[in-house]
Amino acid sequence: MVRIEHIGIAVENLEDSIALYEQLLNTPCYKTETVEAEKVATAFFRVGESKIELLQGSDADSVITKFVAKKGQGIHHIAYEVENIQAEMKRLTALGFELLNTEPKKGADNKLVCFLHPKTSGGVLVELCQEIRP
Ligand code: CO
Repeated sequence: MVRIEHIGIAVENLEDSIALYEQLLNTPCYKTETVEAEKVATAFFRVGESKIELLQGSDADSVITKFVAKKGQGIHHIAYEVENIQAEMKRLTALGFELLNTEPKKGADNKLVCFLHPKTSGGVLVELCQEIRP
């Protein structure tokens, strides 16, 4: 894996959290994006070579809405950048990690993504992401 691409943080109210993170990080949010398929609204901040991704569920049955209802706001996932997502998915499956999707899917911020079930990754929801190259 190349680096920690971003840390995903589930929030109740994206607008309020953007204001909070702009103060906390002392840097402006550089992008907001809604991923309809995942029912999330996202906002991104750069922190050195990594990013913070804020996520708000865009409807009641969004996994983020449910996460916040159950656990409150907080860290939701850690995303690792990979060179070749298909190869990493194959490598991790062979090692016994459970993938939450069998094919990479289109995520926010121009990425192909795949999630690993927390039960096989030590209680942490892991996202693999690969830049979509033109
Ligand atoms: Co993410």
